[in-house]
Amino acid sequence: MFSSVEHSNHPHPDALVHFLFTDKDAPLSLSDEARSASSRPEFNSKPGQIAQVFPSSGPREIIVGLGDSSKLSVEAVRKAAIKLAQHIDNCQLEVIHFAENSTLNELKFGQAIGVGFQLASYNPRQMPGSRTEQEREVSLQIKALSEQFDKGLARGVGLGNAVNFSRRLVNTPPNIANPLWMADQAHDLSTRCQGLSVRVIQGQELDEESLIGHINVGRASCNPPCMIRIEWNPDPSANQKPVVLVGKTVTYDTGGLSIKSKTGMPGMKHDKAGGCAVLGVMQAVADVIKPNFPVVALLTAAENSIDATAYRPDDVITYRNGVTVEVTNTDAEGRLVLADGLCWACEIENPECVIDIATLTGGVVTALGAEFAGLFTENERLLTEFKAAGNLSGEDVWQLPLTDGFRDMMKGSVSDIVNSVPGGKGHASQGAAFLSCFVTPEVPFAHIDMAGLSHTRNDEFPVDGPSGWGVRLLAQFLTARSENN
Ligand code: BES
Ligand code: ZN
Ligand code: ZN
Repeated sequence: MFSSVEHSNHPHPDALVHFLFTDKDAPLSLSDEARSASSRPEFNSKPGQIAQVFPSSGPREIIVGLGDSSKLSVEAVRKAAIKLAQHIDNCQLEVIHFAENSTLNELKFGQAIGVGFQLASYNPRQMPGSRTEQEREVSLQIKALSEQFDKGLARGVGLGNAVNFSRRLVNTPPNIANPLWMADQAHDLSTRCQGLSVRVIQGQELDEESLIGHINVGRASCNPPCMIRIEWNPDPSANQKPVVLVGKTVTYDTGGLSIKSKTGMPGMKHDKAGGCAVLGVMQAVADVIKPNFPVVALLTAAENSIDATAYRPDDVITYRNGVTVEVTNTDAEGRLVLADGLCWACEIENPECVIDIATLTGGVVTALGAEFAGLFTENERLLTEFKAAGNLSGEDVWQLPLTDGFRDMMKGSVSDIVNSVPGGKGHASQGAAFLSCFVTPEVPFAHIDMAGLSHTRNDEFPVDGPSGWGVRLLAQFLTARSENN
């Protein structure tokens, strides 16, 4: 597969791509040869159907079916784009132009194609050794010949690039991707993109700031924990409140002393996927979205490991907001580090709203599979915004309960709350209820449990591996806020 995608004005395409609909006449820009191919019974313009013709003059033409135009969706366009990308790769083409198309001349469709192409270019074999044949390094160059479509395409290329950045982070093995490595990635991002500043809270400073969740979850690992703060602030003099995004960044989750089983542990390098989504969206913030309000990202990074100093079930810890927590299960560690991030967000950042995203519970995987992430919020505006962002981005969320009933369930006997109710049920909602105890009541708050989504669904992505889930959802959420601000 081509190894990257760029939006470029290269004047000589290897192929001109036309999209066709079942209910519309073929566009005028088609060559006679392409027109006769499109009218053959074998080609019926169904979504994702592809044919190729070699006209007597000009570049080859690729015709791609998109079905009924009245049922056209961003998802259908993105899926067709992925199929098209595979075809383009099989033919080893390097420069693609998309023909004018009035039905597709909208930002969102161009964006879906740019994203689709980027998603297709990702290769999970990030560490090829001497026994892997070297792959072709080709950067595919694309542009569209109508204005809004082309604008969208450029945006999509940028967004998809941020998704792939996130995927590379998630996929990086835990012997490399430890908390301070994540901090290095944030620093690299801030040198690569303009407008981001990074601060890393680690070592002594974690003690001084009472980031007690990090200290405890990370204490049994030789890779020390840290909290990574990344800020986008377009106008510091405006004193606007930031949107704060908090991402669970557990670089490996063994379960700690409440150890996971030999089948439950493999794959837990993905337990940093929430933080990687947040870092990915910060790349999109600086490169593409450029929101007109500040955004603060907090990555709560620790490795949940085991040694003689490990925190124990029965330990009680006190958070910087005064809440005491009895650890009943060291495998419910995500909420312990996130709680530091939420306290920090509310006490230090004066937030407009706080959103956390995390691979938090197996319970949400049981409930929603890989179809939806769980969305937990008591705030109507955030509910509406995330449902809309889910629909538009193709990264759907489904609301699950965050209620006083679940908060009551979390009450402890020696402490205010426990981190997991022994023998309890509704683990995804327990997690959400726990987290809400660290958010000031006036602050609009949403929790996104994406435990089922850090890995790809095969029908959607050409390769098995990390999905980068959450980048597109958060990007759409921030884009819509910026447009309405
Ligand atoms: N990282 C896991 C959640 C998870 C499970 C992510 C499966 C992806 C796939 C989390 O830290 C965890 O272990 N959660 C426990 C919580 C329980 C002990 C309260 C769980 O869901 O089993
Ligand atoms: Zn765990
Ligand atoms: Zn975990």
